[in-house]
Amino acid sequence: MDEAALQQALTDTQNLGEMPDADAVGTVGSPDCGDMVRLWIKYKEKDGKKVIDKASFQSFGCQTAIAVASIATELIRGKTKEEALSMSAEELSKPLGPLPPMKIHCGQMVEGALRAALEAENKPAANSAAPLVSDQSGTLADALTAAGKTQGKIKIVLTS
Ligand code: FES
Repeated sequence: MDEAALQQALTDTQNLGEMPDADAVGTVGSPDCGDMVRLWIKYKEKDGKKVIDKASFQSFGCQTAIAVASIATELIRGKTKEEALSMSAEELSKPLGPLPPMKIHCGQMVEGALRAALEAENKPAANSAAPLVSDQSGTLADALTAAGKTQGKIKIVLTS
């Protein structure tokens, strides 16, 4: 992984934060490390096609996940749902260079959140201002279950 690119991506983090007027939201948690990413998407019509206007994210995760999510929310702008669905974790993290084995799941988690949002197109709950994980006293599964009650579907990405 290109450490300079990682630091640059973190310094220039894009699209961080919830999107109250989003058309879709997806949340994924990684059982590998207990981290989570939530991604919001807003669509628009362009030349008769529905394309991604903008995307934003929140991360309860490591620096790599934050950097990949930031890059991904920029890379998918202007793409159709099908084009965005075809993007792999490797493509979404490409500006960072190849991720080391122990960080591959970080990119896969972002890909999973993107897929969850693209496939579900579930409107964010009215109370989407709620924190990503409001109760951190339990296990990841508890947190995911609790978050799922107010934030829609949550998917666990198995990477091994
Ligand atoms: S270490 Fe788990 S998301 Fe990066």
